[in-house]
Amino acid sequence: MGEIFTRSPRALAGTGPPARYRRPVELDGIDPQRLPVHVGCVMDGNGRWANKRGLPRTQGHAAGEEALFDAVEGALELGVGWLTVYAFSTENWKRPVDEVRYLMRFNESLLVRRRDEMHERGVRIRFAGRRDWRVPRRLIRRMDEAVALTEKNRTMTLTIAFNYGGRAEIVDAVRALVADGVPADKIDEKAIRTRLYLPDMPDPDLVIRTSGEFRVSNFLLWELAYSELVFTDVLWPDFRRENLFEAVREFQRRDRRFGGLDV
Ligand code: FPP
Repeated sequence: MGEIFTRSPRALAGTGPPARYRRPVELDGIDPQRLPVHVGCVMDGNGRWANKRGLPRTQGHAAGEEALFDAVEGALELGVGWLTVYAFSTENWKRPVDEVRYLMRFNESLLVRRRDEMHERGVRIRFAGRRDWRVPRRLIRRMDEAVALTEKNRTMTLTIAFNYGGRAEIVDAVRALVADGVPADKIDEKAIRTRLYLPDMPDPDLVIRTSGEFRVSNFLLWELAYSELVFTDVLWPDFRRENLFEAVREFQRRDRRFGGLDV
């Protein structure tokens, strides 16, 4: 596969994509038959990116938007069907109050600014996480609007893990089991899985964490049991689709055995 140029549906329709979509992309070395079905991203390093530039941390989050939507473009280009990004964890409430307030507004405005573009590109937007009292009502309304607008799209599912914690998800599944009156001897993996936030979501094949930290920080704990983990030093605002492609190449070099033996 040589150097190819992206052709967005809008480019094909003649209106032309935004400049950032119009550039050559290197897909060499990626086997289209062995793509990860589901890729997860821990978008880490925004604060450090900003600090290095003498900017407030919030500017790092703002710069992370370009990275997020370039990664979405890259996933669409590859044909990855599911992309899940960690946008706010159940632990991130511990951050300074101004940063938390900024992130709530930022996510709200990001949804309003990007939902039509995502819809045009066939992306279904969904959320995973707790909708507790701490999440502003206005943001919840925007989330519901984005979900409703895009619910019939199937080109790709973009799941935004927001106020999400892997442990909280398991706790919520256990609560649902109890509420459903499931007896102990009927509890198995399927009983738990069907009570996760998005039971139809396939487990991630590949999870990428940026910014040089080697941990999962409570991301998709149940679901990543057999995920391939790829860590990169790139800070999230510098992440681009080429970094996604590189992670996919690394994924394709791995030998996945799921507890079995190579045959
Ligand atoms: C986990 O690290 C990382 C996250 C939960 C991602 C946080 C991302 C943002 C707040 C910005 C989102 C950006 C966009 C563009 C929507 P951690 O810092 O929660 O955990 P750690 O303390 O273990 O590193």
